[in-house]
Amino acid sequence: MPRAQDVAYPDPKQLQRVVAQLAALPPLVTSWEIEKLRMMLADAEQGKRFVLQGGDCAESFADCSPAQIANKLKILLQMSMVIVHGLKKPVVRIGRMAGQYAKPRSSASETRLVGTGASAREVTLPSYFGDLVNRPEFTGSSRTPDADLLLAGYFHAAMTINFVRSLVDGGFADLHHPEYWDLSFLRQAGLPASLRVEYEKMCANLADGLRFMEALGEKTVEDLTRVEFFTSHEGLSLWYESAQTRQVPRREGHYDLTTHLPWIGERTRQLDGAHVEFFRGVRNPVGVKVSANCTPAELVELAQRLNPANERGKIVFIARMGASKVDAALPRLLRAVKTLGLNGLWICDPMHGNTRATSAGLKTRNVEDMLKELTSAHAIHLAEGVTLGGVHFELTGEDVTECTGGAGGLTEQDLSTNYASACDPRLNYHQALEMAFVLARMGKGK
Ligand code: PEP
Ligand code: CO
Repeated sequence: MPRAQDVAYPDPKQLQRVVAQLAALPPLVTSWEIEKLRMMLADAEQGKRFVLQGGDCAESFADCSPAQIANKLKILLQMSMVIVHGLKKPVVRIGRMAGQYAKPRSSASETRLVGTGASAREVTLPSYFGDLVNRPEFTGSSRTPDADLLLAGYFHAAMTINFVRSLVDGGFADLHHPEYWDLSFLRQAGLPASLRVEYEKMCANLADGLRFMEALGEKTVEDLTRVEFFTSHEGLSLWYESAQTRQVPRREGHYDLTTHLPWIGERTRQLDGAHVEFFRGVRNPVGVKVSANCTPAELVELAQRLNPANERGKIVFIARMGASKVDAALPRLLRAVKTLGLNGLWICDPMHGNTRATSAGLKTRNVEDMLKELTSAHAIHLAEGVTLGGVHFELTGEDVTECTGGAGGLTEQDLSTNYASACDPRLNYHQALEMAFVLARMGKGK
């Protein structure tokens, strides 16, 4: 079937060798975890849990370092704590981590002017498709797809997930001890004092509340405080995904064991395409990005194809409309799915419909646009009687300057200070924390 965003590997023998090796290696996640996530997503569809999905636009092998992984986990834990406190329901934490290495591109090639003066000439090379496919440097050899990177991706994902699991299981993520994830940035000058005070007050409140409920022998507290962490990435490389897709003893069906929640991107969700065909065959829950270009009929068909038995906890619709389009586009999509009684979890990605270029040609997003999309989505979901069960952010635990706006007041001029993304602009830690506070206030109806 047509494979959108397909990669032309120059050495088919090398590709076959790598895929065989990947297929023989142990899985990165287990079917048990996948089934547990499905159950939690089914709860979220019914408003009993809230999903927080976030991480880099593109992970890179170079950033597979203890500090960067721990900081990403910390900001996600902090955000989840704010959301638990505001919404008073358990949060399902899903990182865009441990495999977010393949990127769809709007253009398969990139042309740059190389050299200076009289020797300057235009050079066209394949675009950078993420560390799983090729390398970012603008040279012929770097940009040539290299199948060995599929293996390198697997190993980096394995190291990442191993570290995350050890941190989470070792007690780092215990909600009783938010001081463990106290990021040094909480004391940093750039962070608005009001946000710091609000966060610290909330931590103290939450810890108090937990102790009180535990003293009463309250059962639900366990569910609120037990931290589970799941992984997700765009299932773009069908070589990578299919090599790790297998049957497991005593269970029906096939599991894609590279990640808990693979998703199909906006550029690869064609109804007659290979990605939909592949992911309709796995037991994993599957995300699908939905932009304002998606028609209600298309969405219905997609939902039915990916989830023919209409099970709960199977599909996650990740709506990424854009602040200026959400009002017109989202209601008709929610209605189409609701009218037919099709199950699925709706979450809001306020990032991907709000990307723009600065006058200097840098990709950026404005926090105010994201807040607008999030607030509109919340109101639309309420009006349509469809649960908004989660959010999807591109964020990092680092002090980057990629998105403008927010309480820190980053301007376009500030963006060059620390623009580190290999792809789309991410929220930095205080912009991310701010977003969590907005969500918490939404829960309180403010
Ligand atoms: C992404 O999530 O990084 C992405 C490419 O999103 P979309 O498919 O929504 O454009
Ligand atoms: Co992105």
